Amino acid sequence: MPLVYNERVMTSKRDVIERIGGLDRMREVLRDFYDQLFDDMLVGFFFQGRDKKKLIERQLQFTARAFGAEIVYEGKSMPDAHGPLPPILPGHFDRRHRLLEEALRRHALPEDAIEVWLAYDKSFRRAVLGAKAGLKKPA
Ligand code: HEM
Repeated sequence: MPLVYNERVMTSKRDVIERIGGLDRMREVLRDFYDQLFDDMLVGFFFQGRDKKKLIERQLQFTARAFGAEIVYEGKSMPDAHGPLPPILPGHFDRRHRLLEEALRRHALPEDAIEVWLAYDKSFRRAVLGAKAGLKKPA
Protein backbone atom coordinates (compact mmCIF):
# COMPACT_ATOMS: atom_id res chain seq x y z
CA MET A 1 0.00 0.00 0.00
CA PRO A 2 1.63 3.28 -1.02
CA LEU A 3 2.05 5.62 1.92
CA VAL A 4 2.61 9.31 1.46
CA TYR A 5 5.23 10.58 3.85
CA ASN A 6 7.06 13.83 3.64
CA GLU A 7 10.78 13.69 4.27
CA ARG A 8 10.58 14.95 7.84
CA VAL A 9 8.07 12.26 8.79
CA MET A 10 10.13 9.65 7.01
CA THR A 11 13.26 10.38 9.04
CA SER A 12 11.54 10.65 12.40
CA LYS A 13 9.11 7.75 12.29
CA ARG A 14 11.73 5.12 13.06
CA ASP A 15 11.64 5.27 16.85
CA VAL A 16 8.26 6.85 17.24
CA ILE A 17 6.83 3.88 19.17
CA GLU A 18 9.60 4.17 21.72
CA ARG A 19 8.91 7.89 22.11
CA ILE A 20 5.20 7.21 22.56
CA GLY A 21 6.06 4.75 25.33
CA GLY A 22 5.63 1.38 23.65
CA LEU A 23 2.71 -0.63 22.31
CA ASP A 24 0.85 -0.73 25.64
CA ARG A 25 0.86 3.05 25.78
CA MET A 26 -0.32 3.23 22.15
CA ARG A 27 -3.18 0.91 23.07
CA GLU A 28 -4.20 3.17 25.98
CA VAL A 29 -4.32 6.17 23.66
CA LEU A 30 -6.35 4.22 21.09
CA ARG A 31 -8.81 3.06 23.77
CA ASP A 32 -9.41 6.67 24.69
CA PHE A 33 -9.71 7.66 20.99
CA TYR A 34 -12.25 4.92 20.24
CA ASP A 35 -14.28 5.76 23.37
CA GLN A 36 -14.63 9.27 21.95
CA LEU A 37 -15.38 8.02 18.42
CA PHE A 38 -18.11 5.64 19.53
CA ASP A 39 -19.85 8.38 21.57
CA ASP A 40 -19.41 11.22 19.08
CA MET A 41 -22.48 13.04 17.75
CA LEU A 42 -21.06 13.36 14.23
CA VAL A 43 -19.32 10.07 13.58
CA GLY A 44 -20.51 7.77 16.38
CA PHE A 45 -23.23 6.23 14.21
CA PHE A 46 -20.60 4.61 11.95
CA PHE A 47 -19.39 2.57 14.90
CA GLN A 48 -22.68 1.42 16.41
CA GLY A 49 -22.73 -2.34 16.86
CA ARG A 50 -19.03 -2.72 16.04
CA ASP A 51 -16.57 -4.61 18.22
CA LYS A 52 -14.62 -1.79 19.83
CA LYS A 53 -11.90 -4.01 21.29
CA LYS A 54 -11.23 -5.61 17.92
CA LEU A 55 -11.14 -2.26 16.14
CA ILE A 56 -8.61 -0.97 18.67
CA GLU A 57 -6.36 -3.99 18.13
CA ARG A 58 -6.59 -3.67 14.35
CA GLN A 59 -5.84 0.04 14.47
CA LEU A 60 -2.91 -0.71 16.79
CA GLN A 61 -1.53 -3.31 14.37
CA PHE A 62 -2.11 -1.03 11.39
CA THR A 63 -0.41 1.99 12.93
CA ALA A 64 2.38 0.28 14.86
CA ARG A 65 3.40 -1.72 11.82
CA ALA A 66 3.77 1.49 9.83
CA PHE A 67 5.95 2.88 12.61
CA GLY A 68 8.28 -0.09 12.34
CA ALA A 69 6.95 -2.52 14.98
CA GLU A 70 7.24 -6.22 14.25
CA ILE A 71 3.54 -6.77 14.28
CA VAL A 72 1.16 -8.32 11.76
CA TYR A 73 -1.90 -6.43 10.54
CA GLU A 74 -4.76 -8.93 10.45
CA GLY A 75 -7.46 -6.58 9.16
CA LYS A 76 -9.05 -5.71 5.86
CA SER A 77 -7.80 -3.31 3.21
CA MET A 78 -9.06 0.26 3.58
CA PRO A 79 -11.61 -0.09 0.73
CA ASP A 80 -12.90 -3.39 2.12
CA ALA A 81 -13.17 -1.98 5.66
CA HIS A 82 -14.82 1.31 4.76
CA GLY A 83 -16.54 0.75 1.42
CA PRO A 84 -19.57 -1.06 2.89
CA LEU A 85 -20.20 1.72 5.45
CA PRO A 86 -22.58 4.63 4.92
CA PRO A 87 -20.82 7.29 2.77
CA ILE A 88 -17.88 8.81 4.67
CA LEU A 89 -17.82 12.56 3.92
CA PRO A 90 -14.85 14.93 4.29
CA GLY A 91 -16.41 16.42 7.45
CA HIS A 92 -16.57 12.95 8.99
CA PHE A 93 -12.93 12.34 8.19
CA ASP A 94 -11.91 15.71 9.63
CA ARG A 95 -13.96 15.14 12.80
CA ARG A 96 -12.36 11.74 13.37
CA HIS A 97 -8.93 13.21 12.74
CA ARG A 98 -9.60 16.00 15.24
CA LEU A 99 -10.68 13.47 17.88
CA LEU A 100 -7.43 11.59 17.27
CA GLU A 101 -5.43 14.78 17.72
CA GLU A 102 -7.26 15.55 20.96
CA ALA A 103 -6.58 12.05 22.28
CA LEU A 104 -2.87 12.29 21.41
CA ARG A 105 -2.65 15.62 23.23
CA ARG A 106 -4.64 14.44 26.26
CA HIS A 107 -2.06 11.73 26.70
CA ALA A 108 0.71 14.29 26.42
CA LEU A 109 2.71 12.41 23.81
CA PRO A 110 5.87 14.12 22.56
CA GLU A 111 5.04 16.73 19.93
CA ASP A 112 7.15 15.08 17.21
CA ALA A 113 5.43 11.73 17.79
CA ILE A 114 2.03 13.45 17.54
CA GLU A 115 3.04 15.00 14.22
CA VAL A 116 4.15 11.65 12.79
CA TRP A 117 0.98 9.90 13.94
CA LEU A 118 -1.31 12.64 12.57
CA ALA A 119 0.51 12.76 9.23
CA TYR A 120 0.20 9.00 8.91
CA ASP A 121 -3.50 9.11 9.71
CA LYS A 122 -4.13 11.95 7.28
CA SER A 123 -2.36 10.12 4.48
CA PHE A 124 -5.42 7.81 4.33
CA ARG A 125 -7.86 10.65 3.62
CA ARG A 126 -8.27 9.75 -0.05
CA ALA A 127 -8.30 6.01 0.56
CA VAL A 128 -11.07 6.30 3.14
CA LEU A 129 -13.15 8.95 1.35
CA GLY A 130 -12.87 7.02 -1.90
CA ALA A 131 -13.39 3.64 -0.27
CA LYS A 132 -16.66 2.93 -2.05
CA ALA A 133 -15.11 3.49 -5.46
CA GLY A 134 -12.18 1.26 -4.50
CA LEU A 135 -14.35 -1.67 -3.39
CA LYS A 136 -13.59 -4.77 -5.39
CA LYS A 137 -16.52 -5.95 -7.45
CA PRO A 138 -17.51 -9.52 -6.67
CA ALA A 139 -16.07 -11.93 -9.25
C1 HEM B 1 -14.27 9.22 9.13
C2 HEM B 1 -13.34 8.32 8.89
C3 HEM B 1 -13.48 6.87 9.31
C4 HEM B 1 -14.58 6.18 9.75
C5 HEM B 1 -16.00 6.69 9.96
C6 HEM B 1 -14.15 4.81 9.99
C7 HEM B 1 -14.96 3.79 10.43
C8 HEM B 1 -14.61 2.48 10.53
C9 HEM B 1 -15.50 1.38 10.89
C10 HEM B 1 -16.97 1.50 11.25
C11 HEM B 1 -14.79 0.24 10.84
C12 HEM B 1 -15.30 -1.19 11.13
C13 HEM B 1 -15.57 -1.93 9.83
C14 HEM B 1 -16.01 -3.36 10.10
O1 HEM B 1 -16.13 -3.77 11.26
O2 HEM B 1 -16.23 -4.08 9.11
C15 HEM B 1 -13.43 0.61 10.48
C16 HEM B 1 -12.37 -0.26 10.38
C17 HEM B 1 -11.07 0.11 10.27
N1 HEM B 1 -10.60 1.37 10.02
FE1 HEM B 1 -11.70 3.03 9.85
N2 HEM B 1 -12.81 4.71 9.71
C18 HEM B 1 -12.36 5.94 9.32
C19 HEM B 1 -11.07 6.29 8.98
C20 HEM B 1 -9.99 5.46 9.11
C21 HEM B 1 -8.62 5.84 8.90
C22 HEM B 1 -8.14 7.23 8.49
C23 HEM B 1 -7.86 4.74 9.13
C24 HEM B 1 -6.38 4.57 9.04
C25 HEM B 1 -5.53 5.46 9.44
C26 HEM B 1 -8.75 3.66 9.48
C27 HEM B 1 -8.38 2.38 9.78
C28 HEM B 1 -9.22 1.33 10.01
C29 HEM B 1 -8.80 -0.04 10.28
C30 HEM B 1 -7.37 -0.52 10.37
C31 HEM B 1 -9.94 -0.80 10.44
C32 HEM B 1 -10.03 -2.31 10.78
C33 HEM B 1 -10.38 -3.13 9.57
C34 HEM B 1 -10.64 -4.57 9.97
O3 HEM B 1 -11.04 -4.86 11.10
O4 HEM B 1 -10.45 -5.47 9.14
N3 HEM B 1 -10.03 4.14 9.45
N4 HEM B 1 -13.36 1.97 10.29
